[in-house]
Parts: sequence; structure tokens; C-alpha cells
Amino acid sequence: MEFKLNIEAPKSWTHVVREVPHVTADQRRRALQATHYNEFAFPAGMLYIDCLSDSGTTSMTDTQWAAMFLADESYGRNKGYYVLLDAFRDLWERGDDQVRLINYMKEGVDRDDVEKMMNDVYLKDYEGGFINGGQFQLSRPNTFIVPQGRCAETLLFDVLKPLFARRWPGKVFTIPSNAHFDTTEGNIKQMGNVPRNLFHKEILFEVPESGHYDVNPFKGNMDIDKLNQLLDAVGVENVPLIYTTVTNNSVCGQAVSMQNMREVSAIAHKHGIPYVMDGARWAENCYFIKMNEPGYADKSIAEIAKEMFSLFDVVSASLKKNGHANMGGLLAFRDKGLFWQKFSEFNEDGSVKTDIGHLLKVRQISAYGNDSYGGMSGHDIMALCQGLYEEARFDYQDERVKQCQYLADGLTRNGVPIVQPAGGHGIYVDVDRFFDYKRNHESFAGQALSLEMVHRYGIRCSELGDFSMEYDLKTPEQQKEVCNVVRLAINRSQFSKQHMDYIIAALTQLYKDRDTIPNLKITFGHNLPMRHFHAWLEPYAPTEEEMADKSNYSYWKTWTPDQF
Ligand code: F0G
Repeated sequence: MEFKLNIEAPKSWTHVVREVPHVTADQRRRALQATHYNEFAFPAGMLYIDCLSDSGTTSMTDTQWAAMFLADESYGRNKGYYVLLDAFRDLWERGDDQVRLINYMKEGVDRDDVEKMMNDVYLKDYEGGFINGGQFQLSRPNTFIVPQGRCAETLLFDVLKPLFARRWPGKVFTIPSNAHFDTTEGNIKQMGNVPRNLFHKEILFEVPESGHYDVNPFKGNMDIDKLNQLLDAVGVENVPLIYTTVTNNSVCGQAVSMQNMREVSAIAHKHGIPYVMDGARWAENCYFIKMNEPGYADKSIAEIAKEMFSLFDVVSASLKKNGHANMGGLLAFRDKGLFWQKFSEFNEDGSVKTDIGHLLKVRQISAYGNDSYGGMSGHDIMALCQGLYEEARFDYQDERVKQCQYLADGLTRNGVPIVQPAGGHGIYVDVDRFFDYKRNHESFAGQALSLEMVHRYGIRCSELGDFSMEYDLKTPEQQKEVCNVVRLAINRSQFSKQHMDYIIAALTQLYKDRDTIPNLKITFGHNLPMRHFHAWLEPYAPTEEEMADKSNYSYWKTWTPDQF
């Protein structure tokens, strides 16, 4: 017999504690001024809660720390390399039928049974998937370990740039997505091509009257009509890749349905265009599919992942999110698949002249290290191996996604305009609505909101709107694709309910005091690529018209930068 309460039983407890110092608002204001109001430059050691990014910020499990002791730092073929490659096969391609080679190391098989290690691990061949193994990783390399996600992007576009220039001189290509992350956009632009973000902006900011969705509406989906229109307008021959980001980080961390990926995959393949997954948050997305999409309730996260990955030709992933690790990234393409066929060069007799995998491997070795560590330490590789399995645990994902939703619901209840439902890795403030649609696109008020959270309450958020998505530098068409939001990213396995309640209280109070939030102007680095990482800002008072409630105007009349 089960004894039920209307509250869930805990799923973990704290094992190691990090104490935070007491910091005053005056001290934070001094630090903001000294760092030119650039939130990336604000010292983390002066914060109570850092919601800047969920990337690499994970508190790892005891099992991950233990796995790090099993690592070795060999320059060629450390043991973790084999185990990591097989963890990808297990979690992305084998569903419930997993091998878990990592257990060989936990159980000492690597010490006691060399013959088994040779047959099952070191010399075993794999081909046909995203992760070749044994001799095939030498003859047709298709898996590239890198330190983080943007390295995978740079690796891909560094190799494609000269290849495109040689094959199609002078051409500008368009690369659509349900929404690119800022570094992906940056990499595409630096290659001279045009990124496009084709999500459903119309439904993104809708909130049901109850404030709550019973079933997740998959707001992260690609807008299929927009994709078809774009393909018609620019011509399929000018679209070399189509991306889907899961979950859709730039679109408020919203989930993408299997149905949507199936449709986009079919369109891409109809036109012979390789379909690329930005898989930074693959496991969270699989959880959303399980909980919300008909037909998936009884499937495990790994089974859903198997189906999801089968729709793609390329995976580009930061593993600092759904690797439950502090470091890691991967670029992989399907062995002999569409990407390989399209970008390798072949002789007339069909034999391979230049294998795109070899070009990528040369670049990987030049920039990051040889293929078996790719710029990662052996210890980080082992933490990642274990972390990938942790991410696929239902209980873990359930607790994580519900924590984000708890934060979202608390804010919605207090009237703070945020996007509902919560994303898989945080919540997003609807900046235009927060400021009653009074602040214009060049006021960068979202960034100011974010800085005021630092100043007043010691909570760092991240602006992912007009300032960092470079609204003022975009074409009118691209401007429509910017979501003016501020994100509070929730670090994995790190925060308690008290952290969530503190954030709810702080953001609610700041919303009430929104007329005391300044505007910002950029004083340095306006046109630098990815300017939010290095631009300097300066606060100034909004005009009387820009303020919803003018009762605080006297505050601004006497305002000087020192007061911020
Ligand atoms: N793609 C997505 C969807 C991302 O969210 C990120 C990083 C990257 C690529 C780049 O990966 O940081 O490992 O180089 N997102 C972090 C964030 C930084 O805060 O959302 P990276």
C-alpha cells in the first residue's frame, strides 16, 4: 500500500555547500560602474543568485565526481574517449537498449580483462550512425569532440566557408532555423551568410486567461509556412543547411514537438538539404515530448531521443547543458549521410576525393587537440559521460522542469509579465509588456531591467532581446524575428525553493518599481560582433512619455549616473 501526500517526495539532497558573501547594493553599484554596466563583466562572487546562464554551471552529482577519478589524461585514446562515444550511441541511438560501457571502468573490467576491453571497447567497429568507431573513425571520421558548443559551430563554419567560396564564389546563403542561438548567428554571419529565425512569434507571448497551460503548446516549433515561403523566396539551392534548436533557447526555451521536427526533416530532405540539430538541450526537449505529445507518454527519454536524432543529418551540441557537465561540445554527422554526400568531393568513378570528415578533423586537431580529447581534459570527459546518463533520468528532468514552472507560476500569480509556459532551462520576462510598451527598441530597457536585478537584489539575469540580438543593426525583416526578453536561467541541480522564492519576490518588486529603471545607451562597441559580451553601457533617464506611471518622475529629474 502506498501512502500519498499532495506534495512530491524529494529527489535529491545537498552534498557539498558553497557559502555566498553578504554584499550591499552600494558595493554592487560600484562594481557595475567599474565594469561599464556590462553584465558579463560583473564579478560572480558578488551575487546571491547567478541566472546569467545554465551553461556549464551545473552542480554535478556524486556519481559524476566519482567518474572523474576513473579518467586518464592520455594524449592519444584515453579510456574516456571510448566511453564517451558509446554514451552518445547509448543515449541518442540505442534507446532503452543501452550498453553502458562506463560500467566496465566502474567495475574494473579495464584492469582485469584486457581481452574483453579489446573486443568490446578499444577495437570495436561501429558505422552507419552519428558515432563511427574503431577503424571507421579513422577512415570516415564523423564525430568531433570540442570544448563547447560554439567550438562545434566554428569548426563547421570554418571548414564550410572556404568550401562554399570555392564551389559557389560570391554567393550569399541563407541558413534558417526555428531560432539560432547568438553564437550560431554570429558564426553564420561571420561566414558571410544570413541566419533566419522562423518561429511562431504570434503565439509566443500569448498567455491563457488562467495563466497556465495544461498541455505544453510547443511554442519553440519552426513555423512551417514561413520555412516554405523562405525556400520559395531565396531558392532551395541557396539554403545549404536547415537548423532546429532543441529546446529553442532564443525563443524562451520553448519545446519543439516531434511532429514539427518530422515535418521540417521531410521538407529539408525533399530538397536535399542536410538537417542540423542544435542539441544543447536535447534531454529537456525529450521530457517535454514525453509529457505533452500524444503517443510518447510511455516512452523513456532515451527512446524519444532515439527517434528525435533519427530525423537529423548533423548534430551540433553544447554539452554544458544537457551533458550535466561543466565542459563539453560535439559536432557529428551521419556516416555516409546527406551532409557527407553533399560536402565531400567525389571522383568520377564515385570514389572519395576529399572527405568532409577529414577536413573537419584537420581543423579540429589544429584548433582544439586530437580527436580523442578535442580540447577537453580526461576528467571533464568522464564527468560528461556520466552526466549524459544523468540527463536521461526521468526523475531528474521532472524535478528540473517543474522547478522552472514553479518560478514561472509564482511570477504570473504576482502579475509579472513573463512567457508561459516556462522554458526547460529558465523563465523569460516579456520586456515590452513589462514596460507597458513604452520603451522603444533603442532604449535597451530590457538590459537595464537585468542590471537593476543585479544592483538591487544581487540576481544576475541575461538579456536576450533588443540589445544582445542587435535589433538596431538588423534588416526590418530580421527585426520581426527578435524576441525582446530577459532570461533567468536556472542552473542544474543547484537551487532550492528558497532561491526561487527570492527571485519571485525580487522581480515582483522591480516590476512594481519599473518606472525607476533607466534606459541605456551604448558608449563603446556598438557594432562589434556579439556586442553584448564587450560593449560598454551608460544609464540615462527615460522621457516622461516612456514611463507608464509618471509618479516617479521626480526620481529621474535628479538622476545622475552615480545614482544607478
Ligand atoms: N546553442 C545553444 C542553443 C545554446 O544555448 C548555446 C549556449 C550554444 C549553442 C553555444 O554553446 O556556450 O557551449 O559554446 N548557450 C549558453 C546560454 C551560453 O547561456 O544559453 P556553448
